[in-house]
Amino acid sequence: MLQHMTFSSDASVCELHVNRVTVQMGKTTIVSNLSFDAKAGEFLAIIGPSGSGKTTLLRAMTGELVCSGDVFLAGQDVRGLSPEIQAEMRGVLPQASQISFPLNVAEVIGLGLIDRRHNKNARTRRLAEALSKVGLSGFEGRNYQDLSGGEQQRVQLARVLCQVWEPVPIDGPPRWLFLDEPVSSLDIKHQYQIMQLAAEYAARGGGVVAVMHDLNLTLTFADKVLVMQKGQRLAFGATEEVMRSDLLSKAYDFPLSLTRCAVAGAPIVVPFNGR
Ligand SMILES: Nc1ncnc2c1ncn2[C@@H]1O[C@H](COP(=O)(O)OP(=O)(O)OP(=O)(O)O)[C@@H](O)[C@H]1O
Ligand SMILES: [Mg+2]
Repeated sequence: MLQHMTFSSDASVCELHVNRVTVQMGKTTIVSNLSFDAKAGEFLAIIGPSGSGKTTLLRAMTGELVCSGDVFLAGQDVRGLSPEIQAEMRGVLPQASQISFPLNVAEVIGLGLIDRRHNKNARTRRLAEALSKVGLSGFEGRNYQDLSGGEQQRVQLARVLCQVWEPVPIDGPPRWLFLDEPVSSLDIKHQYQIMQLAAEYAARGGGVVAVMHDLNLTLTFADKVLVMQKGQRLAFGATEEVMRSDLLSKAYDFPLSLTRCAVAGAPIVVPFNGR
């Protein structure tokens, strides 16, 4: 419930507005003068080589890192929002989540169950549903630190989902998922399952911004793509416009070819290095 925030029903304020964002670490510019807009209801992928500034940009967008320029979510400057309001508006899956306390899975996910309107039974039901969505039904009592890397990643996603459960709450603007490499530790079946989950969140009216390394999953699930290179925006636009052989080869400094899967007919990216 956004008690301390006025929300306009104007569609333009349901957007993520990033304008001339620059992030400086000491004397080094990590993200440079970067602008784009994203809409709730769409899945935006951020791609680019390792070290190009994707995580840094995501952290600037979630208000975690100091930056110059503007980041507006649903018409609000993210830097002016209290932690409570931020937690209502968006869930964040970091690239790496370390928990050094001996918590079980239910306790980790419970960190995301911030909606005090729900009683214990409703919270237990939501927790079980979130675990089912990420393919971990029955894991409530397991020690988080004993889980595999991929299981931990899915527990973290369940935590984020519990936090921003309804993509479009009745009393506020659409909610957003900010996901940093959400499927990096997962096998192919779970990669598709989690990507599908995120795409459904967008289809139900929420906003999704996901940093991705897998170009084929990006092709399959993203509506829009932002390509970063050396802290700058190399390209931004609809997936089919941006995911081109020439542009991707330039972005990754590696020969890539866009072709079609002979069986499914879907576009796929393959390395084209003469081997
Ligand atoms: N606190 C910091 N101090 C100095 N340099 C930093 C800091 N944080 C990030 N960097 C540097 O900024 C660059 C961008 O880092 P970032 O984590 O945003 O890259 P990335 O695109 O997410 O890479 P990856 O795909 O490997 O996760 C890297 O060269 C990194 O070493
Ligand atoms: Mg990163």
